Amino acid sequence: MQKLVVFSGAGISAESGLRTFRDSDGLWEEYRVEDVATPEAWDSDPELVQHFYNLRRKQIMEATPNAAHIALADLESRFDTTIITQNIDDLHERAGCKNVLHLHGEIMKARSTEDPDLLYELNDWELKIGNKNQQGHQLRPHVVWFGEAVPMIPIAQSVIAQAEILIIVGTSLNVYPAAGLIHYAPSHSLKYLVDPGDLRLPDINNLTVLREKAGTGVPMVVKALLN
Ligand code: APR
Repeated sequence: MQKLVVFSGAGISAESGLRTFRDSDGLWEEYRVEDVATPEAWDSDPELVQHFYNLRRKQIMEATPNAAHIALADLESRFDTTIITQNIDDLHERAGCKNVLHLHGEIMKARSTEDPDLLYELNDWELKIGNKNQQGHQLRPHVVWFGEAVPMIPIAQSVIAQAEILIIVGTSLNVYPAAGLIHYAPSHSLKYLVDPGDLRLPDINNLTVLREKAGTGVPMVVKALLN
C-alpha cells in the first residue's frame, strides 16, 4: 500500500463549528492566548485555564465530523494512511480514522502535572482544580501550550519523510515547529493543499492547490485518489 499522510489544522474543523485561531484576530474564542494557553497562565490562574479548556471540550463534544473528516477515513481502505493533526479535537477519530497523531495534544485526555506520561481518558467535559490522580497530583488538559516542547515532532518527521502522497488541509502554516514538517516530505511525492484562505504557498514540489473549504476540497482530492 502507498503511504499517504494528511497534515491538518484548525480549518478542517471550521465547518464543524470550531473556530480557527488566526481567523479570530489573535483571540481564541474571546480569550487572549497568553491568558489561557501558556505555562505562565497555568501558574498564575489555573482555574481560568481549566475553565477555558472545559468550554473547548464541551464545544468539541457537541460538534460532529464534517465531510472532510469523513472523506479522509475512506482513504484507509486503499492507502497506508496517517493523519498528523495540529488539532486537539477528536473529529478525525470520530469520523473513523484509525491512525491519528496529535501534535498539540488531545482535549479528551488529561495528564498529571507531575508526570507528562500519565494520561487519562476523559468522558465528560469538566476537569476541575482538585481533580487529582492516584498519586495525588493535579490533572491538567493534555495539550501543548505555547512555549512548551512538542514531543511528537520527531515521530511526525519520520512519518512524513515516507509519504508518497501528502494532503495539507486547513492550516495557516504559521506555527512552528509543526509547520516545518511538510518540508520533510520527499520531493517526488504528490502533494495537495486544501485551504480557502490567501495563505502564502509553501515552497514544495509537486503541489496541487485547491482554494476550497475542507468540506468541498477534501472529498474532491479523496475521490481523485480513489479513482
Ligand atoms: N476549510 C479549510 N480551511 C479553512 C477553512 C475551511 N472551512 N476555514 C478556514 N480555513 C483555513 C484558514 O484559511 C487558515 O489557513 O484554516 C487555517 C487556519 O489557520 P490557523 O487558525 O492558524 O490554524 P492552524 O494552522 O491549525 O494553527 C496551528 O496554532 O494556535 C496554535 O496550537 C494551535 O494547533 C494550532 C496551531
